[in-house]
Amino acid sequence: MVQPDRRGGEPALTRPLVVVSNREPYIHSRSADGSVKWSPTTGGVSVALDALMRERGGVWIAHGAGDADRLAVDDDDRVRVPPDAPAYDLRRIWLTEAEEHHYYEGFANEGLWPLCHVAHVKPVFRTEDWRIYQSVNRRFAHTVHAELPDVSAPIFVQDYHLTLVPGFLRRLRPEARVALFWHIPFPHPDQLRICPYRREILEGLADCDLLAFQLERDRRNFLAAARAELGARGSGSRLEVGGRTMAVCAVPIGVDYDRIQAVTRAPAFEAEQNRLRRELRIDTALVGVGVDRLDYTKGIPERLSALDALFTRWPGLNRQLTFVQIAVPSRSTLDSYAAVEADIDERVAAINAKHARADGVGPIRYRKSALRMRRLTALYRLADFCIVSSLHDGMNLVAKEFVAAREDLGGVLVLSELAGAAQELTEAVIINPYDVEGFADGLQLALDMQHDERERRMRALRRVVAGRDVFRWATEILEQLENLDPRSLPPAPGRLPGRR
Ligand code: F6P
Repeated sequence: MVQPDRRGGEPALTRPLVVVSNREPYIHSRSADGSVKWSPTTGGVSVALDALMRERGGVWIAHGAGDADRLAVDDDDRVRVPPDAPAYDLRRIWLTEAEEHHYYEGFANEGLWPLCHVAHVKPVFRTEDWRIYQSVNRRFAHTVHAELPDVSAPIFVQDYHLTLVPGFLRRLRPEARVALFWHIPFPHPDQLRICPYRREILEGLADCDLLAFQLERDRRNFLAAARAELGARGSGSRLEVGGRTMAVCAVPIGVDYDRIQAVTRAPAFEAEQNRLRRELRIDTALVGVGVDRLDYTKGIPERLSALDALFTRWPGLNRQLTFVQIAVPSRSTLDSYAAVEADIDERVAAINAKHARADGVGPIRYRKSALRMRRLTALYRLADFCIVSSLHDGMNLVAKEFVAAREDLGGVLVLSELAGAAQELTEAVIINPYDVEGFADGLQLALDMQHDERERRMRALRRVVAGRDVFRWATEILEQLENLDPRSLPPAPGRLPGRR
């Protein structure tokens, strides 16, 4: 519901938005012939926020990581996107190789990422990474300051890369309205204590007006850490810290459900499925899929162990089932990522050799590249089951995308109890990725499931996914931001001058 605007002007939920994230929604790169091409970023979070920005307009500030990104922007480093149907501005921030190395790979992904995921990879915190993480966060805050159309524009910061942006921004624009969404699990205070810079990070987050998490568990962990480390007070949705009041809530993210329905209803959709079948050389009656970023938190080796157990238990299944694993390379310069990639390569080769059919073809098709939405949706629709086997995951949008793609009510979702999505998607076949035999039982259950039961479960799952789509997620967060208790606001600022 659109709220009347307390400060006058446009209604709160139609006002242009300022989104801030590390990853950009569109990337420009050079083709082999030297021409510049563009493509959307494929991760679930980018796709979800892009849907929101296309609807609302505004500016999205992000790291320009494409090798032709500089060629596409104007003198102010902005480009209108989506390039084929412009709806909002993408403002790119340039990072040097060293900055990317220390801020993104180092502090964010060798420090905070393993700190927040219980996946038994030791977090690494280096002074130099922290120093550059701080300076890059400061740059993001200055760019928001420069790009803010007026102080009433809500600023929506994304994730663990940018924990210090709210604090820096508060100093530059005390009256700015800032929300941050934490997409990944938030660690328990005992785990957070590993991080030497936890206090600064908590202080940065406490400078938000609204801090939102995927799950109640994450919200509770943050509250406990803020109380222990910053002496914050309050237990409900309000927290008093450093003389300010902030709101802390849990709002699970969703997918662009209607867009996925539209893709599945497009005339070329069936042809796309047939094309995929040919390309992936699928000639079996049964198909399973897994779609993940190539990340050690996704439980891909565990999934392969369970599939190995299943093929071992069920002789002849290799003639009936093809499993398609799509893994999108990510953060591959880091040892922990290179190690899981090598492990998966080995396991796929071993399973394909061990369970090869008489014609020498093994049951796993492994592709290390991203699929665009239309192809991805077609792949979901081909599948009799989809595996999401995260060892720990904030939400996991693949689980929700798979359900959104199944208007035909076919397909079974096999879902790790350690993914945030398991809290809502209770009609999935729930597995524990650490329990190989139990996992294989879950796969067997999915394959044996009666038609009626499959439909009943998928119908229930679709109700959940449709009822909590990405627009509802954003609306809930931005409405809460707009409706905060005026006592938590700084004195009436009036409108400040716009862009530089
Ligand atoms: O969902 C968590 C997240 O880290 C997002 O912040 C990010 O956009 C996505 O995963 C992909 O990760 P990366 O941008 O490092 O490839």
